[in-house]
Amino acid sequence: MSISSFLTKKFLKSLFFPAHNRGSALPKKLVKLLKKPPGYWDLPELPEIGSPLSQSGLIAKSQREFSEKFKAKGCFFGVNGASGLIQSAVIAIAKPGENILMPRNVHISVIKICAMQNIHPIFFDLEFSSETGHYKPITKNWLKNVFKKINFNEKKIAGVILVSPSYHGYAGDLKPLIDLCHQKKLPVLVDEAHGSYFLFCENHNLPKSALVSNADLVVHSLHKSLNGLTQTAALWYQGNLVNKQNLIKSINLLQTTSPSSLLLSSCEESIKDWLNKKSLSKYQKRILEARSIYKKLTQKNIPLIETQDPLKIVLNTSKAGIDGFTADKFFYKNGLIAELPEMMTLTFCLGFANQKDFVNLFEKLWNKLLLNSKKSKSLEVLQSPFKLVQAPEIEIGIVWRSETRSIPFSQSLNKISGDIICPYPPGIPLLIPGEKIDIDRFNWINNQSLWNKDLVNFNIRVI
Ligand SMILES: Cc1ncc(COP(=O)(O)O)c(C=O)c1O
Repeated sequence: MSISSFLTKKFLKSLFFPAHNRGSALPKKLVKLLKKPPGYWDLPELPEIGSPLSQSGLIAKSQREFSEKFKAKGCFFGVNGASGLIQSAVIAIAKPGENILMPRNVHISVIKICAMQNIHPIFFDLEFSSETGHYKPITKNWLKNVFKKINFNEKKIAGVILVSPSYHGYAGDLKPLIDLCHQKKLPVLVDEAHGSYFLFCENHNLPKSALVSNADLVVHSLHKSLNGLTQTAALWYQGNLVNKQNLIKSINLLQTTSPSSLLLSSCEESIKDWLNKKSLSKYQKRILEARSIYKKLTQKNIPLIETQDPLKIVLNTSKAGIDGFTADKFFYKNGLIAELPEMMTLTFCLGFANQKDFVNLFEKLWNKLLLNSKKSKSLEVLQSPFKLVQAPEIEIGIVWRSETRSIPFSQSLNKISGDIICPYPPGIPLLIPGEKIDIDRFNWINNQSLWNKDLVNFNIRVI
């Protein structure tokens, strides 16, 4: 089968990213554009359009209008996902050889750019729930304790990265965290890949957007948390702690010279759609419907985990002795395609389309799964083995460029990793280049490999 034939395959329910649910929640104007003769819209960087870094043209105008609307100093569209703009933001904050503080659940794109530029990641651990296998959102006290562990006179920190909300939708109050960083004059980049819509939808009992919470740089994945096509993203910038010219240089460094006009139009339309009163009220209705789906399912005793993002349905399969990977295969076979299987849970993304038949279908399949699957009593996730603040034993950029050899993971105890070990989704690295595979880490990764097929009998590159 060719890729193009697969793309026409029908699923009963597409509960994955992109969040436009296979086109049904795409902005009307984009749908109209896509209905033009195929390829008609595929234009080069004509002067009338420009590019995300042009001073004039339609893109510059749109970006300017959006940043004015949210009182930001700048807004830049991106066509290489949130990944690409996060990487530009990281190199705008830190130079090669400098340190940058980040949570252990940071996205792999950060680690890749650190490896490329030899920017030193200093990780802080997060509170972890062994009931769900998920990291919990960081609190102000937690960050204060992290700061206490760092000698800021000895170790110059160039900036801080925060991830909020998480893949599952966990989010805390960002403002106090950002204020704490700003007291130390540290710029803050918030990876808000999963929370773009929070910015457009205040007063709906949703977390406050990072932009409203004063983050210096905020990255949105428009295909994950607005109605953009895959790869669309936006970066917002404000405050005085990030140098504008550095930021522009950094975006320019990593941006293609031929950004897709279709994707750029999708960036614009996905944001405009949420600024339009009529469509905004439709999305607000979706949010209420999503809350009602959660309530109805929990009333039916289906074990869900509540997060701050109503559009994520997080099923705690472990409560029934079923791991999330087995549940995922079952739901997939039955036409309900989820987004994120993990050891204890399976996460579904409701997206922005109407999901009126979801509750009955979900209940029916869950009951069928309960009847048909083997239950495991030993389903448990080990606490992550990290110190509150920890840096790799050897500089990431040096290891990345060193000669490595590939060995079975089972033989890697006490060696230094030359690899990024990172199952996707969720794209959170378990191990990065320069880190030592000590016994706790070794056991922790082995524990996860019981359930995650990416981690079964895998090879790792070590130095
Ligand atoms: C927290 C987080 N940040 C960033 C990204 C990257 O987003 P994109 O796929 O738009 O590059 C992801 C993707 O899974 C993510 O989970």
